[in-house]
Amino acid sequence: MTPPGRVLAEYWPVFGLRLATPRVTLTPMRDDDLVETLDLILAGIHDPGRMPFSMPWTDAPRDELIANTLRHYWTSRGASTPARWSVPFVVRLRGELVGMQNIVSTDFAVTKTVMTGSWIGAAHQGMGIGAEMRSAVIQFAFDHLRAVRADSGAFTDNPASLRVSEKLGYLPDGTEVRQRRPGERAVEQRLTLTPREFRRPGWDVQVTGLAACRSYFGL
Ligand SMILES: CC(C)(COP(=O)(O)OP(=O)(O)OC[C@H]1O[C@@H](n2cnc3c(N)ncnc32)[C@H](O)[C@@H]1OP(=O)(O)O)[C@@H](O)C(=O)NCCC(=O)NCCS
Repeated sequence: MTPPGRVLAEYWPVFGLRLATPRVTLTPMRDDDLVETLDLILAGIHDPGRMPFSMPWTDAPRDELIANTLRHYWTSRGASTPARWSVPFVVRLRGELVGMQNIVSTDFAVTKTVMTGSWIGAAHQGMGIGAEMRSAVIQFAFDHLRAVRADSGAFTDNPASLRVSEKLGYLPDGTEVRQRRPGERAVEQRLTLTPREFRRPGWDVQVTGLAACRSYFGL
């Protein structure tokens, strides 16, 4: 057990990172977040008839989905290095876990480019949270990590994700044809954003804890 007054962030400083917007907070996923994350996933993220993810992880039967989700978050956390980092942020609205906003990069010190992915529990969609959490990590990347480019993508039949990107100023960056489910062809719209095109909201993301974990990001 962790001794009173001690926290794991002393040894793994990225756990002390926190982003805040007017409505939501984003903190790197920890084991304490996993029960709520699984509850949210099992309650449903999307219409089962339309797969929004290029890896159709939500199609797995319940038991596999649970085990795969745990393996995924434990593995990606352990695999993150300064040369190839990722931060899966859990997103909380008034304390309740409502979704996930991921940000990843490879060779960030040189590429200055990040890529994002996200999902929100079905009950919490359509309330502007998707735009707010993406804007939070984009501001974090551009203003705090000094990234110069942010990439994203969505299938052409995912209007909510495409609309979030459009609202933030992303520009089309080509398409990619994928097999998203066995035998199912789908077209992914690639999107890209630079600080110049970024349509900023009327608020600034509040960032705490970055000074202690800059090396996590290869800085
Ligand atoms: C994509 C996602 C993260 C967006 O989050 P959200 O909180 O629902 O998004 P917001 O409320 O911020 O914005 C959604 C926008 O899409 C629009 N939209 C939603 N469904 C739409 C539809 N069927 N047709 C047209 N526009 C639509 C909304 O009107 C809104 O635009 P507006 O603000 O101009 O009105 C969320 O819907 C989600 O998790 N979906 C399932 C998983 C997923 O698709 N992840 C992304 C994979 S690339």
